[in-house]
Amino acid sequence: MFIHAFEGSWFDHPFWTKHFCVETAEQLLRIRGSAIDGLVIDQSRSRVTTSEAVSPPQFTRPTAVEEVAPPFRRAQVAFGLPSTPPRDELRRKPGYNSECRRARRLIDKSRDAVIDMFDTARLGRAVEARRMVPLARSIGDSIERDTKALVNLVRLKEKDEYTYVHSVAVCALMMNFGRHLGLDEPVVQDLGVAGLLHDLGKVAIADDILNKNGSLSEGELHSVRGHPLAGHALLENSQGVPEAALEVCLRHHEKLDGGGYPGGLRREALSLFARMGAICDVYDAVTSNRPYKAAWAPCEALTEMQGWTGHFDVPLLDRFADSLGIFPIGTLVRLSSGELGIVMGSGGEAWEDVMVRVFFDCETLAECDPFDRAVAPSAENPRIVGRDSPTFWRFPDWDMMRWRVMAAEVAA
Ligand SMILES: [Fe+2]
Repeated sequence: MFIHAFEGSWFDHPFWTKHFCVETAEQLLRIRGSAIDGLVIDQSRSRVTTSEAVSPPQFTRPTAVEEVAPPFRRAQVAFGLPSTPPRDELRRKPGYNSECRRARRLIDKSRDAVIDMFDTARLGRAVEARRMVPLARSIGDSIERDTKALVNLVRLKEKDEYTYVHSVAVCALMMNFGRHLGLDEPVVQDLGVAGLLHDLGKVAIADDILNKNGSLSEGELHSVRGHPLAGHALLENSQGVPEAALEVCLRHHEKLDGGGYPGGLRREALSLFARMGAICDVYDAVTSNRPYKAAWAPCEALTEMQGWTGHFDVPLLDRFADSLGIFPIGTLVRLSSGELGIVMGSGGEAWEDVMVRVFFDCETLAECDPFDRAVAPSAENPRIVGRDSPTFWRFPDWDMMRWRVMAAEVAA
């Protein structure tokens, strides 16, 4: 059966996505073992009827495509986008592929160093934070040569290496974000070290809890929620740990509305580094394949994260999206070709492309017939220059215009 939605909080179920087809008995068991109150089945996309699948039927069936599809499916199905639109690689960025090869080696090396550091901490010895500095510098160099090579590659994680590669990913995201915000290079390097160290406290969590597929008991949750404090204590006992790393380690699970942990601190009490850490940590988690969750595609992840009221600093989340050149669905963007388009979602085999619906020519100041482009990370021209302002272009009713363009029929 195809699940359209879970009823209850995102935290009540063990899946990254709310929309997927239940294919295995194990998935069904995990749903039954979760804390959700109910779920919504899209019968039109299911291969069995609800009466075959569950008894008694306690689910409702949405009626329209617009109601049943997640944003990117809505873009693809309801608005007629081909599932794999032509990739826009008229001119490819030189060196992208060679940077991918270098980045792959660097990710492996960094992962091994993080594993070593975790092993040291498990043995109760002080970790050598200074060993992380040259790694952060190399990761910073890689993303300076090409932001997207390492950032795209690091989303791919094997089950048993998740925590370690996640640390490498957060390091890269933090450094890229810090540079985009114009922070000084020594601060950027410290943020890289912070990314590598931020989850060190997970050494205090038992492996069976850390890798558990289903929902956690109260006691298990307590153990997981102890990792920022545990990590902070380990780092305080180590030499040469930057202040930024101590801060990010302790505060990366805080939320702006005070609903996070360990301190339940609110907006004004949370530093820039803490707010950056929360964004980078969650973005990498939801865009990574996990044993119990399918990954969200990047544009869809940012769209969802934007909707988590009270969790993130929203203007800062916008700057984070800008730093990656990946935008929530519905964002107005300008292309280097002098055209405006609307982000329709992610595309490509590994969801590394941004799908843009082009509809406006900035030179003639006129609308054109909408058409779709998949802008690959290696594309140099046209590439996405950045988000743009509907007010600047004096679009009289942007919401209506956006709806019209996104709903337009386009040639496949
Ligand atoms: Fe964490």
